[in-house]
Amino acid sequence: MRQNKDKHIVVLKGGWSAERKVSLDSGKACANALKKIGYRVTEVDIKRDLAQLLDALNPKPDIVFNALHGRYGEDGSIPAILNILEIPYTHSGLLPSALAMDKFQAKQLLLSAGIPFPTGTIADRETLACRLPIDPPIVVKPINEGSSVGVQIIRENASFVDFEQWQEGQKLLVEEFIPGRELTVAVMGNKALGVTELQPKSDFYDFEAKYTDGKTVHKCPALIDGNVSAAAMKYAELAHKVLGCRGISRSDFRYNDTAGEPGKLFMLEVNTQPGMTSLSLVPEQAAMAGISFAGLVDWMVKQARFD
Ligand SMILES: Nc1ncnc2c1ncn2[C@@H]1O[C@H](COP(=O)(O)OP(=O)(O)O)[C@@H](O)[C@H]1O
Ligand SMILES: [Mg+2]
Repeated sequence: MRQNKDKHIVVLKGGWSAERKVSLDSGKACANALKKIGYRVTEVDIKRDLAQLLDALNPKPDIVFNALHGRYGEDGSIPAILNILEIPYTHSGLLPSALAMDKFQAKQLLLSAGIPFPTGTIADRETLACRLPIDPPIVVKPINEGSSVGVQIIRENASFVDFEQWQEGQKLLVEEFIPGRELTVAVMGNKALGVTELQPKSDFYDFEAKYTDGKTVHKCPALIDGNVSAAAMKYAELAHKVLGCRGISRSDFRYNDTAGEPGKLFMLEVNTQPGMTSLSLVPEQAAMAGISFAGLVDWMVKQARFD
C-alpha cells in the first residue's frame, strides 16, 4: 500500500469566475488539511490558460482536488479535461456537474423525480424589461452562477428593477418568491449529514451574508419540524443520486412556514462544488456528524475517480 506521503495531489483553486476569492479560500483550507494528513500537495491558481493547466498536470499527479467554484470550475469543464488525461479528481464528473450548474435543466430533472421546486420560467433581461412573466414577489437569477451573484428579489409594488445587473441575452430563471426560512443539506457519499438553517442579518442570503463573518447565523441542526427536516434530507439524497453526483454535494432549500409548521419545502439548487473553507456549511455539518475537516477532505480524496 502506498502511504499518503507518496501521493501527489494537485489542488486547483482560484479560477476566473465571480467566486474566485471563495475558491482561493477553499483551496488553501483543503491544501493545508491535505498537507497535515501527509500528502504531497501542489496548489495551482488557475487562469484561463489551458497550457498553464496542462503544465501543472505534467507529470501527472495521483489525484486532482478540485477546489474551484462557479462557472468553468463547477460546470464540468475541469472533469472533461481530467477524463481525457485519465487523472482521478474529487467531486462529481462531467455530466452531473454540467447539469447541476444549469439551474433550469437540473430543476426539470429533479421535478420529474418528485422533488418540489418554486414555479418559474426562463427569460432574458430584454424580455423582462417589457413584461414580467410572473407577478411579483419574484426572484430573478442567472441560471449558471453561484454565491447569489446576480440574484435579485423583486417585491410586490417594487419601484425599481436593476436590469444592469444582468448581461444582454443572459439566461435568467424567474421564480415565485418563497417566503420563510433558508435551509441547506450536505450529502456525503449517499447520506445527508444534517440540516442547517441560515439566518442572514440582511435582507436575504446574498453574497455579503454568505462570506462576511457575523452576517449570518447558522443553526445546525435547524430547529424545525422533524418531518420537514427528514424530508429535506431525503430530497437532498435523491437529488445527489438522480444527478449522479460523486463525493459531496449540497442542496439549498426555502421553507415556507409562514402559516405555521409543518410548512412547505422547496429545493432551489444543487451545488456540486460547495464551499470548503473550515467555516463553510459542509464542513460544519460534517463536524456535527463527528467528522473532522481533515477527515472530510481525506474521504473526498479517496472518492476521486475519472470517467
Ligand atoms: N425562489 C426563491 N424564493 C426565495 N428566495 C430565493 C429564491 N431563489 C433564490 N432565493 C434566494 O437567493 C439565494 C441564492 O439562490 P440559489 O438558487 O441558491 O443560487 P446561488 O446560491 O447559486 O446563487 C438563496 O439562498 C435564497 O436566499
Ligand atoms: Mg445557493
